[in-house]
Amino acid sequence: MKGLQHPKNDVSLNASGNESIHDVIAKVDVSRRQFVQGGVGAGALAAAGGLTLGGIVQAVEAAPVPAVAGFAGIGFESVPASRAPVLDKVTVPTGYSANLLVAWGDPIMAGAAAFAADASQDAAAQMKQYGMHTDGMHFFPLQGIGGKPLSDRGILCANNEYTDEEVLFTDGQVGAGYTLAKTRKSQAAHGVSIAELRRVAGQWQVVKNSPFGRRITANTFCKISGPAAGHALLQTRQFTITDAATSATGATTDGKSAYGTINNCAHGITPWGTYLTCEENWNGNFGSRTPLPAATTEAGKLFSRYGVTAGGFGYRWHETDDRFDLGQNPNETNLFGWVVEIDPMNPRAVPIKRTALGRFKHESAQYVVDRANHLAFYMGDDERNEYIYKFVCAGKFNPGNRAANRDLLDSGTLYAAKFNADGSGTWLPLTPGSIGLDGKALREHANFAGADDAEVQAKILVKTRMAADAMGATMMDRPEWTGARPRIGGYSEIEVYCTLTNNNRRGGSTANAADGSTPAASARPPVDAANPRANNVYGHIIRWRETGQSVRAATFAWDIFAQAGDSVTAKLPAAQYQGNIVDDPAGSADYGAPDGLWFDPFGRLWVQTDQVGDGSGDWVNIGANMMVCADPNTGMTRRFLTGPNRCEVTGVTMTPDGKTMFVGVQHPGEDATAANPQQYSAWPASQWTTEADGVTPLPMGRPRSGVVVITKDDGGLIGS
Ligand code: FEO
Ligand code: CA
Ligand code: CA
Ligand code: CA
Repeated sequence: MKGLQHPKNDVSLNASGNESIHDVIAKVDVSRRQFVQGGVGAGALAAAGGLTLGGIVQAVEAAPVPAVAGFAGIGFESVPASRAPVLDKVTVPTGYSANLLVAWGDPIMAGAAAFAADASQDAAAQMKQYGMHTDGMHFFPLQGIGGKPLSDRGILCANNEYTDEEVLFTDGQVGAGYTLAKTRKSQAAHGVSIAELRRVAGQWQVVKNSPFGRRITANTFCKISGPAAGHALLQTRQFTITDAATSATGATTDGKSAYGTINNCAHGITPWGTYLTCEENWNGNFGSRTPLPAATTEAGKLFSRYGVTAGGFGYRWHETDDRFDLGQNPNETNLFGWVVEIDPMNPRAVPIKRTALGRFKHESAQYVVDRANHLAFYMGDDERNEYIYKFVCAGKFNPGNRAANRDLLDSGTLYAAKFNADGSGTWLPLTPGSIGLDGKALREHANFAGADDAEVQAKILVKTRMAADAMGATMMDRPEWTGARPRIGGYSEIEVYCTLTNNNRRGGSTANAADGSTPAASARPPVDAANPRANNVYGHIIRWRETGQSVRAATFAWDIFAQAGDSVTAKLPAAQYQGNIVDDPAGSADYGAPDGLWFDPFGRLWVQTDQVGDGSGDWVNIGANMMVCADPNTGMTRRFLTGPNRCEVTGVTMTPDGKTMFVGVQHPGEDATAANPQQYSAWPASQWTTEADGVTPLPMGRPRSGVVVITKDDGGLIGS
């Protein structure tokens, strides 16, 4: 499909129509395999002017990718892959520097204690420190004279996706009994961290005692707004939460409030300057020590469709905190799975769960404002065989009045995507009158039956997955981040990309049932045009363009931007391999499991990966997780960063001048035990000896998720 719907994207590096160096390298990639296997490949080499294979690679390596149609070019040379034994450090290209900005446990608020490397600190300390397992994030610049956004001072909002209890507690999760104190610390390490950053004498640091410093955790009071607010499915037992207990008050909530946000994976922002945190694997934080609702009940059906189980993901919160005991509080689960809006500039603002954007395992939310000031958010539901969505606001964005946009996220239309085999696509509205696969309107379906259309819409939003099932949306290979290509340099299309990270349940013959009865991740759909690989180990990146350059379009055109993989072992047929990191002299040129995806304001596409990260098994040639930079016109890709052992690289943002980049490193040394937390990684202490201030010794003792700050040594634009 590549190029058919996107002729402008097939811009060659050689406008003459002759074979471009990109084409030649594509051939060499193929011939390299043949060369190894049978000594063929002289033709391709001759086409490149008689250079040796290494010569071609070096020539391309030295050549900056030129700027074309809405793309500023890539000017750095790839760092080598970090193969087993994976380096326990972050690597960046020659000419760049990386430093630690902030790590799990660092103070970000007034009165916060310094991190204790033996993990002996309690929930109260964690409440004022940077949370665990950093993920999506955004830098909101503070404004200087005349409202000019600053590039040396701003607010970093970052998600803390989940906790690793073996590293979070000195004796791990199972040692010496499990207590509410442990639950509270784990809850305090979840959520969102908000920190003021400042560059002082060239050195980026977290501002101590900043009034902007804030933690939002699993116990922070939140409002619920939008069409589902107040519905009976969101009403649950009311609790009083203290350090000593979670106590039921005997009352029932009004369905318009909730405590906490959890499993905050990736994120979004709004054009009015608020942060969106997206609740992904919230089901895993629940468990049950009392009987679950019967499978035939409304709650039981929801549990099945959203993967809520008695065991959860192994957290033990429910043993000490009744709120997370499924049997006692089935509706508590319905308070999670939303997009939550946070005002980073007002530390007292209550986070708001915006139900109009639907309830699923939200990965991220990318906004686009079109020329008519209509506004949409593009979102993925990260589970095998789930869907891609867009939410179109009913009201227009008002660029001149921030307050006028305050409730834009409360009314509009949610759509699920259907990718047709011919490269066209349809946005399927999830509204009471929408006609499903069975020829009936959603309001006629048992799952959404209500007293009136307002109630039907509320149920559609709480049961978003079931509504998309009924409409026949396309099951995807785990939609992760969405990113919109900037419309700059004469480039005017509304083009949105989405990483499809992998899917080991693709290639069978079972679909998500239209009646919403298929348990989460249990279908095994056949391959289709948009998800063309059975057992998709390495993942791919899909993109679409809105018809008429309007976010309100009912249709779109799509193609596959990249199919990741390992070209060295040629596990994949060439036709299924479109990854093309072209400038690694060692020969491996690949990445897999794309997850983080972000366009910088200058048109460069950054992709971050999430696989095992130790260079084992399917990743022997690819090595550590990484961040690559791609040219959206050609797909040409270079490796910008590799991460420490067993980490995931996730979260990327920049200062407005493009000269400072922040990149997240999550769960270095994953799967170590409490007895030996540094079994696989001691990062960041394995890479640096002091904190970002260059003075304070960096604590040793356990691996810590954190954010690195990257600058170019010549002070230039990152990626240029
Ligand atoms: Fe938390 Fe889908 O990544
Ligand atoms: Ca992710
Ligand atoms: Ca992932
Ligand atoms: Ca991971």
